[in-house]
Amino acid sequence: MKSSRQNMFAALVAGVIFAGGLSQAPLLPTLQADGQEAPRLAPTSALLPVWSRTVTVQDGQSLAPYVPTPQEVVDRMLQLAEVTADDVVYDLGSGDGRIPISAAKNYGARGVGVDIDPDRIAEAKANARRAGVSDRVTFILGDAMTTDVSEASVVTLYLLSSSNLKLRPILTRQLTPGTRIVSHAFSMGDWQPDTVETFNDSRGNPRTLYFWRFDGQYRQ
Ligand SMILES: C[S@@+](CC[C@H](N)C(=O)[O-])C[C@H]1O[C@@H](n2cnc3c(N)ncnc32)[C@H](O)[C@@H]1O
Repeated sequence: MKSSRQNMFAALVAGVIFAGGLSQAPLLPTLQADGQEAPRLAPTSALLPVWSRTVTVQDGQSLAPYVPTPQEVVDRMLQLAEVTADDVVYDLGSGDGRIPISAAKNYGARGVGVDIDPDRIAEAKANARRAGVSDRVTFILGDAMTTDVSEASVVTLYLLSSSNLKLRPILTRQLTPGTRIVSHAFSMGDWQPDTVETFNDSRGNPRTLYFWRFDGQYRQ
C-alpha cells in the first residue's frame, strides 16, 4: 500500500503533466503578421493531457492546429474556386470535414478530406453521414505531405504560410494544369495568387482568401 506521502507525490506529478498540456492552448486569438487570426488548438484537444494527444495523432508533422473555417467563409472559398459537379475537391487538413461536405452537398462535387488526427476523421465521417453525402465524400487518415493529390481539380487549404510552402512542391509536381487552389488566410511564398479576396465576415473579422489556377509550372 502507498503511503499518503507517495500518493501526494503521484498526484503532484500528474497535475504538472496535465497543466503542461493545458498551457499550450492560447486563451486569446493570436494574430499573424498579416492580421489574420492564427489557428488555435481546439478546446477539446487542449484539455487533453500531453501524452494522450501524442498517441492519438497519426505519425507525420503537424502542419496546423485545428481551427474550423466558419461556414460562410467555406461558402466563399467554394464560390471563388467555381466548384461544379464535375470537380474533385481535396481539403488538406480537413478538420470536421465541412469543406468537402459542403462541396458535395451544395455543388454535387466529389470531396476528399485528409487529416492527421483520427478524432477529426471520425467526426468528419459522422458529419458526412448526417449531411447525406457519405457516397460522395471520402476521409483519409494520413499526412497531407505524403498523400497523392493528383486526382484533385480543386485543392483547399487552411494551414499556415510555412505549411503551404512545404506543400507547394508537392502540389505543383502532382496537380494537373488548370487545377484551382484556394487558401484561407495564408499565401504561398513568392507564388503570386491570381486573385486575393478580402472581406469582413458576419462577426466583423477580416478574412483573406488566396486563389491560384495552376499553370503547370513546378515550384520548389
Ligand atoms: C486549421 S485546421 C483546418 C480545418 C478545415 N480545413 C477547415 O478549414 O475548417 C487544420 C487541420 O489540419 C490538420 N493537420 C495538421 N497537420 C496535418 C498533416 N500533416 N496532414 C493532414 N492534416 C493535418 C489538423 O488536424 C487540423 O484538423
